Amino acid sequence: MRLSRRIQRHIRAPSAKRLYVRDLFGRIAGRYDLTNDVMSLGQHRRWKDRAIELAAIEPGHVVLDLAAGTGDLALGAMAPAGQEGAVIAGDLTRPMMAIGRERRGGEAVRWVECDATALPFAGGSLDRVLIGYGLRNFPNLGVCLAEIYRCLKPGGKLVALDFGKPGSGPVKSLYLRYLDLSTRLVGWTLHRDVEAYAYIPESLRAYPAQAGVAELMRRVGFAWAGYADIMWGTMALNFGERPVDRVPIPAPLSR
Ligand SMILES: C[S@@+](CC[C@H](N)C(=O)[O-])C[C@H]1O[C@@H](n2cnc3c(N)ncnc32)[C@H](O)[C@@H]1O
Repeated sequence: MRLSRRIQRHIRAPSAKRLYVRDLFGRIAGRYDLTNDVMSLGQHRRWKDRAIELAAIEPGHVVLDLAAGTGDLALGAMAPAGQEGAVIAGDLTRPMMAIGRERRGGEAVRWVECDATALPFAGGSLDRVLIGYGLRNFPNLGVCLAEIYRCLKPGGKLVALDFGKPGSGPVKSLYLRYLDLSTRLVGWTLHRDVEAYAYIPESLRAYPAQAGVAELMRRVGFAWAGYADIMWGTMALNFGERPVDRVPIPAPLSR
């Protein structure tokens, strides 16, 4: 319980959360991929494939994997974007990207150190933005979603995979308890660092989850904002599109 409070204290203020998160991912980068495989029994790969499928990436697209970490989604986007496209992996934490760069195909991805609250991309320059387990970590979710919206081309899509919150009260509290215990166990076993993974349930507590994210997306202007639950809503895919600017319909010519 004391550990939960300590983490909450660190992640309450946006500027402190940014530093806390960067330090945390810097610490666990070396075993991050292994931990994902252990915690999800390899299932995260299937969910990431679903995210890429849902994004409907076309040859020639410019795709950003935001909060890319070691670049699972960026590497998965390479084939659909093709030689004529470009895949960028953006993240706050250098040690995570350093591992991604060494992976097979990693040299073809453009790795960019960036913060989701102020993206270094021109307005309307991206066809797709993919995010895997990033939203929960952002210091100010509304600001980050508005930044993503700004950088997307009209017609561009955002697809984000993250932990979700199952709907009903008892299932939700049981699930959070399970996460509390399992993440501490994994943190200790694989990293000798209980706090590193205890951060997951803490970040989830303040996170508006799938329904809240869809609502925030609508508020910043996304069209078709919605979500698809995975595993009874314990995981979810959020999606939405920057609407194509409406072209005024010309009045019919009078004869
Ligand atoms: C849980 S990892 C996800 C890595 C990868 N996308 C995946 O699905 O496995 C979260 C990543 O978000 C990055 N991150 C956290 N806050 C960020 C921010 N404000 N801007 C950019 N990246 C951020 C962290 O550095 C970390 O690499």
